[in-house]
Amino acid sequence: MRTHYCGELNQQNIDQQISACGWVNRRRDHGGVIFVDLRDKTGILQVVFDPDDASMFADAETLRNEFVLRVEGKLRIRPEGTFNPEMATGEVELLAHRLEILNASETPPFQLDDDDVHDDIRLRYRYIDLRKPEMQKRMRLRARVTSFLRNWLEENEFLDIETPMLTKATPEGARDYLVPSRTHPGSFFALPQSPQLFKQLLMMSGMDRYYQFVRCFRDEDLRADRQPEFTQLDIETSFLDEEGIMTLMESMMRGLFGEVLDVDVGGRFLRMTHAEAMERFGSDKPDLRIPLELKTISDVLTDVEFKVFSGPANDPQGRVAALRVPGGNELTRKEIDDYTDYVGRYGARGLAYIKCNDVSRGRDGLQSPILKFLPDEAIETILSRTGAETGDLIFFGADKASVVNESLGALRLKVGQDRGMVEPGWRFLWVIEFPMFEYDEREDRWNPLHHPFTSPATDDPDKLEADPHGVLSRAYDMVLNGTELGGGSVRIHDMEMQQRVFKLLGIGEQEAEEKFGFLLTALKYGCPPHGGIAFGLDRLVMLMTGATSIRDVMAFPKTQTASCLLTQAPAPVSERQLRELSIRLRKPQADA
Ligand code: AMO
Ligand code: AMP
Repeated sequence: MRTHYCGELNQQNIDQQISACGWVNRRRDHGGVIFVDLRDKTGILQVVFDPDDASMFADAETLRNEFVLRVEGKLRIRPEGTFNPEMATGEVELLAHRLEILNASETPPFQLDDDDVHDDIRLRYRYIDLRKPEMQKRMRLRARVTSFLRNWLEENEFLDIETPMLTKATPEGARDYLVPSRTHPGSFFALPQSPQLFKQLLMMSGMDRYYQFVRCFRDEDLRADRQPEFTQLDIETSFLDEEGIMTLMESMMRGLFGEVLDVDVGGRFLRMTHAEAMERFGSDKPDLRIPLELKTISDVLTDVEFKVFSGPANDPQGRVAALRVPGGNELTRKEIDDYTDYVGRYGARGLAYIKCNDVSRGRDGLQSPILKFLPDEAIETILSRTGAETGDLIFFGADKASVVNESLGALRLKVGQDRGMVEPGWRFLWVIEFPMFEYDEREDRWNPLHHPFTSPATDDPDKLEADPHGVLSRAYDMVLNGTELGGGSVRIHDMEMQQRVFKLLGIGEQEAEEKFGFLLTALKYGCPPHGGIAFGLDRLVMLMTGATSIRDVMAFPKTQTASCLLTQAPAPVSERQLRELSIRLRKPQADA
């Protein structure tokens, strides 16, 4: 069928008889000659049809974009002055002797080089969208990533083991996708949110080191880096502590980035405690490429008459923090208002600021609606703690610490991006020493920050019970450029500790037995100390390809509302199928 791929031909192939296959990228008619750019996965080749062969020429005149062709001909050098330096094959062209139209195409719904196509159209015609060189490149890089990782893991004694898709709920914090059972009317499987419990059971089975590229399913609100169905590189190992696991995983990442991107990501990754990350960046996944930091100033504001500040400054759950923006003095009223709206989306009730016209003049060199509320010493501390200089602007957040962290953390990223302050490079870090539990205000209960199988940083269940909410866990997250790439932990391998953690989470004995009885039983029969991690493969490839959404690195992703525009899933099913599954749908109310 073909002798060469389109994109690999060059001057060395001159005068050779070539046959190439591909799609019509573009047809141009030029004074009696037809040029066709023929495209395959490797690139584009210019094919020339001249009118000598009248019947072939007539066929060539019918060619339209996305027709599929096979062309035979002789490769020749392009005439002097017509070289195209933008194309790898820009110095040669194929003079066609034979044209076979393998398939025609209707006018495609969009041009491949149009960057402005609505996402819905791209997803509906994904097979055309995937023909784009950019998309092909991403899919190839993704395959190189998985290939490298497989090899690396196998060289390091990890064993690829599959775990069930039809299973029981795993608590990773999202809603489950359920599958009704026909043979057990009224009962449901859950698709796995992760293989967490199975991989722990594999450690109890003596497998020692496990890995799997595994699809996970989470019914949650979608964002640019979240899909209902995504791929984890899931890993678990026995007899290693957190330092051992982190060191192993960073050497895997170092190898991956070296091999696939030819990038040296440096030696040991930075480790930062969760507390420090929240204090300095307002985030548990700080983007270290942006050189802006939050500074707590609650201590100097406890007695000011400005209630917006003194309230949170005196509240143990509150925080008042400042964010210095170098050169931010030039921000207009409108820009500041826009930033105020922006933090409003994260729950902030305002965004106070001080403009630093001339810091050498102290209070007189500053400009702000809140200046009158602040005593001199508070102003001095704010200036020295933030390191503010003439020409800067300082933003303030005052509220519950969670609101300040979220809003100023988001503002830090936005301002950094808007002002071109994002430094190039790959800034990996480990966030460690997470709290074991976090308080859910809406539900008035404590939840695990990671999952309920994560080991607390103490072996003593009594200590855990004495101060559950001050206890740290043995969890760690790998963060890259502000994205959480992966998370894991050393697990609980002691049954009593596991039971006590369930109890602290408000999971009663009966519920624990119903949901996790198999785990509790397994813990009685010789469980090794173990731990692991799962990486979001889609997120990793997104960052490595410079894509802005994980959708762009998945062949067939879903929309923001978790549907597939290509296949039109999810879709209604027949009455008969429902009956077989013992499911009765309530008829929609006429007036509803
Ligand atoms: P976790 O829930 O942190 O941990 O998930 C691990 C990683 O998976 C990725 N990820 C997602 N990617 C795309 N879309 C989603 N909806 C989505 N949700 C998560 C993230 C995340 O860091 N069982 C534990 C791991 C362990 O403890 O070993 C777990 O699943 O990159
Ligand atoms: P006000 O007294 O409400 O006019 O607020 C004075 C300034 O404080 C305005 O710039 C507000 O945007 C700002 N502000 C109000 N509430 C907060 C808050 N919770 N955190 C930070 N700034 C705030």
